[in-house]
Amino acid sequence: MLRIGFSKNVSYSRVLLAESFNRLLTTQTERKLEGKVALITAAASGIGKATATKFIKNGAKVVIADIQKQLGQETAKELGPNATFIKCDVTEESDVSNAVDFTISKHNQLDIMYNNAGVACNTPVSIVDLDLGVFDRVMNINVRGVVAGIKHASRVMIPRRSGSILCTASVTGLMGGMAQHTYSVSKFAVIGIVKSLAAELCNNGIRINCISPFAIPTPFVIEEMNRLFPHLDAQQLAQMVHSTGVLKGAHCEPDDIANAAVYLASDDAKYVSGHNLVVDGGFTSFKRLGFPAPDQVN
Ligand SMILES: NC(=O)c1ccc[n+]([C@@H]2O[C@H](COP(=O)([O-])OP(=O)(O)OC[C@H]3O[C@@H](n4cnc5c(N)ncnc54)[C@H](O)[C@@H]3O)[C@@H](O)[C@H]2O)c1
Repeated sequence: MLRIGFSKNVSYSRVLLAESFNRLLTTQTERKLEGKVALITAAASGIGKATATKFIKNGAKVVIADIQKQLGQETAKELGPNATFIKCDVTEESDVSNAVDFTISKHNQLDIMYNNAGVACNTPVSIVDLDLGVFDRVMNINVRGVVAGIKHASRVMIPRRSGSILCTASVTGLMGGMAQHTYSVSKFAVIGIVKSLAAELCNNGIRINCISPFAIPTPFVIEEMNRLFPHLDAQQLAQMVHSTGVLKGAHCEPDDIANAAVYLASDDAKYVSGHNLVVDGGFTSFKRLGFPAPDQVN
């Protein structure tokens, strides 16, 4: 139809123009966090870094808060002008409060708070041998640090009556037996915190959700594995971590968690709150009874 009255060349360039307009439109609609400001803890590495990268690609400005100053600064530089670093130890409430205030002073708003910091615990397998000092240290980071993040994000989000809070839980917070008790208990707590806080924050238009990743060979997992299998190199350890998954043809990667975070942080999830988004390829959905195949039984 467009061709009427135009030469073949003109109509061809119109088609091209329409195509590039459509492409531009698609790119713009795919930027799901345009104009939003996010603060992400533990974003110098692993899941946090992958999420900061995706958030920026989707149009957000990101403040990276991490205990590692040099790595955090390098990450912010690598991610470009829409990333800024602030040193933050989530066990220090004043650091968490400062990180929130820094974000507001730099960007005038905080739309997304991602409480992602968490550590492994190199504790003995049996409860009988548990060092309660280590237990307290891990709870301080994995649980108290998350609560501090929610508290200070809520402080600035409640007056605006909007915001999206995310936390990193774990598949080890859904089923026992997948990690040492201390780590597992801390992640069960994160899922509980999200549900408890959803009850209050919904009154202020704030959504809160968590993501439970399956095992991913990020630095803290590799360090932990290295203690158990010192004779294996990082690649072999990563392979071992990946081999524990059940979904054939794919591995769990930081980008999978980042994609889940983009969804939960964006308006696509505008009616999703109190939810635990499990990214585990189905691992925690089933258990097999393990009967032998009929032809193997006489
Ligand atoms: N990798 C996995 O298999 C896996 C699975 C489930 C859940 N998780 C969770 O994902 C989150 C991120 O871990 P990751 O796998 O990306 O690990 P990672 O080792 O790549 O990154 C962890 C980051 O946390 C930072 N950090 C440590 N203590 C901190 C503190 N007190 N305050 C601020 N920052 C601190 C470190 O400096 C580091 O940059 C953690 O909560 C972890 O429990 C990881």
